[in-house]
Amino acid sequence: MKLQFLNFLQCPDCRNSLELSIFREEDFLCKEIIEGILRCQNCKKSFPIIEGIPRFVPNASSIFPEFFKKHPQVLKEIGEEKDFEKVHGETQRKFGMEWLKYPGSLPEDQKIFLEETQIPEDEWKGKWVLDAGCGMGRYARVAHHLGAEVVALDLGPALIRLWDLAKQSKRLHLVQGNLLQIPLKFKSFDIVYSLGVVHHTPSAEQSVKNLGELVKPQGQMTIWVYGTNGTYKNFKTNPLRHDRQGLNKMIFLVWLIVSVREFISNSLRSFTIHIPQNLLYALCYPLALIGKIPLIQYLTFSVHPLWRVRLQENFDWLSPPYQSHHTKEELCQWFEKNGFKVFKILPHGFVPKPGVLGIKETHG
Ligand SMILES: C[S@@+](CC[C@H](N)C(=O)[O-])C[C@H]1O[C@@H](n2cnc3c(N)ncnc32)[C@H](O)[C@@H]1O
Ligand SMILES: [Zn+2]
Repeated sequence: MKLQFLNFLQCPDCRNSLELSIFREEDFLCKEIIEGILRCQNCKKSFPIIEGIPRFVPNASSIFPEFFKKHPQVLKEIGEEKDFEKVHGETQRKFGMEWLKYPGSLPEDQKIFLEETQIPEDEWKGKWVLDAGCGMGRYARVAHHLGAEVVALDLGPALIRLWDLAKQSKRLHLVQGNLLQIPLKFKSFDIVYSLGVVHHTPSAEQSVKNLGELVKPQGQMTIWVYGTNGTYKNFKTNPLRHDRQGLNKMIFLVWLIVSVREFISNSLRSFTIHIPQNLLYALCYPLALIGKIPLIQYLTFSVHPLWRVRLQENFDWLSPPYQSHHTKEELCQWFEKNGFKVFKILPHGFVPKPGVLGIKETHG
């Protein structure tokens, strides 16, 4: 953690600023605090810095036992919160495993990133940007490559995969934390983006509200979530991509097929979320193989050309405890309720994937 990043952090519980004690730092491109502690003088909560990353998750002691063996006094200070484990433990472990195994950045990442955020390539440079739920950081890398000052936040441990880049750059900051209790100061970011994340929290709506508070007036927020068909009327009014315009003629049939698929997928998930994660991961291998067979491949949850990605995407679909689905109307409503003007809506094709870009009103 770079010293400068302290200005962005606040106590996730009472929003007070934090005091820093450094145990160990190292010189890379600039000084990085490798081990330390952040203390809230108001509510007296403490948060450790471990392996160069501030950790705002109450179960840090079970993820990093070595650190706490070395600094037993810190364990007394941070305490444990059983509720966190109950609500977020599974999500953290499953995504942690998934993103630690994921092969790496792919050439297509930038194209997907620009499409899904709906913010043009030349609008990132010099902006303070939050990647909310960065996973292993494939999109944080793109935002960094485009010249942004990036803060990458995730609940899980896979953000360590950004550490090598963070050491070589003054423009990348990592933080392990929870979208439902964000440790970042309000109105600090020019752009907040979150791709495929808020529907994996217990409340997507609350997560969007929390993220909205971090955006500066006139700043931008862009969120992409899993879609649901919703009513036929809503489905029909989704803007279609140019290459999908042909679907217009048979839109009712598409709505019907997608509704049936959604029902089957939800029923299947009610079993698979209870399967131990290593076993489920193993079961995703045959699915990844089927994902290459023409037509039958659509019975699986990924038809990506790379089998390692298909493996990950099948697991990503079947394992998370929370996976809510939303319409574009719902998402737009959340933006407006939180003081944003909807600026762009993502066009989609067969399966709805709502994505909204909003601009924060000055008085918001
Ligand atoms: C499907 S992945 C998407 C990761 C990344 N945005 C990407 O597209 O590569 C969902 C991510 O959300 C994170 N996540 C889930 N619940 C979260 C929460 N409450 N707070 C922060 N991150 C969370 C998971 O750890 C996981 O990395
Ligand atoms: Zn506090």
